Amino acid sequence: MNQRTFKRRVNYQQNIEYEVITSPHLFQPENASILSVGKTENARRFVVLDANVEKYYAAEIRQYFQYHQIEAKIVSIPSGEENKTLESYLALVRELDAFPINRRNEPIIAIGGGVLTDVAGFVASSYRRGLPHIKVPTTLMGYVDASIGIKTGININGNKNRIGSFAAPQKVFLDKTFLKTLPKRHLLNGICEIIKMGIIKDAGLFQLLETYGSQSVAAQFQNEAGDLILNSAIENMLEELEPNLFEEDLMRKVDFGHTFSYGLETRYEANLLHGEAVLLDIVVSSLIAEARGLISSEDISRIFQLVDELGINLNTALLDPQTLWNSLEERTYHRDGLQRVPMPLGLGGCTFVNDIQQNEISSAIKNLQDRIMFKYDHA
Ligand SMILES: NC(=O)c1ccc[n+]([C@@H]2O[C@H](COP(=O)([O-])OP(=O)(O)OC[C@H]3O[C@@H](n4cnc5c(N)ncnc54)[C@H](O)[C@@H]3O)[C@@H](O)[C@H]2O)c1
Repeated sequence: MNQRTFKRRVNYQQNIEYEVITSPHLFQPENASILSVGKTENARRFVVLDANVEKYYAAEIRQYFQYHQIEAKIVSIPSGEENKTLESYLALVRELDAFPINRRNEPIIAIGGGVLTDVAGFVASSYRRGLPHIKVPTTLMGYVDASIGIKTGININGNKNRIGSFAAPQKVFLDKTFLKTLPKRHLLNGICEIIKMGIIKDAGLFQLLETYGSQSVAAQFQNEAGDLILNSAIENMLEELEPNLFEEDLMRKVDFGHTFSYGLETRYEANLLHGEAVLLDIVVSSLIAEARGLISSEDISRIFQLVDELGINLNTALLDPQTLWNSLEERTYHRDGLQRVPMPLGLGGCTFVNDIQQNEISSAIKNLQDRIMFKYDHA
């Protein structure tokens, strides 16, 4: 062997396993679910809440840990996308420095919407090179999407999720009673991701939305039919995420609605929530698919009818072909040089396309705006 050189391959594989599990009334004293992870003798927990969750639930959560004799530090970060920032990240790091926890068996507990779980998840994944964490979604968006995967992140320099990581939680606890206090706009925001899944993957889920969607929204998902929708949405999402947790495969069905929405969300952060931008993308993409003969006009009508019945307003005034085209170009770069845009193939099916042209986007926007105009003219 040549004494001056060295070569050895390092190979290590890590198994990723975590449970996503319903646990109603998570913070009632007799419910020990959340303490099933980590030590409970002489134990501490660092609990991160979003400001609105703090307003409604901090007292109950504080009492819960007192009851179980766990020393809990409860900190909150301000709510909303505008606070998915480095400042929020650093604020949590400083709080952690002031409240040392065992880095192996005192998991950080993140309780909030997608913003909170993304920020707190990123803190957990990077503080001291990674601490275990538990996620508890309190928005519909978190419940069916943001909290159940392994992506974390913060926004910077006008770019969404520019800094972040893949970091699996130890567990995700689903307690839909949190949704009781969620404002309607945010319920509808979350339902947009469920509509996405129905169109691109599961016609049965789409039918559930048609049958029980509006009553479930009215009941803040506290009804039984709401469980059917929620469980199906989560199962579908996990089926897509599980084999591709680190997104090696860039052809992702769950990216349906996430091509044009990226630019819309960035440009209109003050006007559009994530799901609202996704739904605009969904309808534009579906109309492009219709023009290509990938989905029938009857199925397109069902999509518009569902959106209508759920009471979601499409803010089509924000759509301009150039913004959408720029977003497609950015996503093409993000997806390693190919558009890889998921398109519906009928209701419940999916195909990917790489050749969307600017004029198809313009036609779809025009078609959409005409439809909305027609609806108001005939209301
Ligand atoms: N990591 C992922 O895979 C993933 C997936 C989808 C979305 N996301 C991210 O999620 C974020 C959007 O999440 P979101 O829609 O949950 O927004 P959000 O976290 O901003 O929450 C929405 C609003 O609801 C409030 N709120 C939260 N829970 C409440 C409750 N139970 N009662 C009353 N008010 C409550 C919040 O304070 C906030 O004002 C985006 O930043 C998006 O990038 C991440």
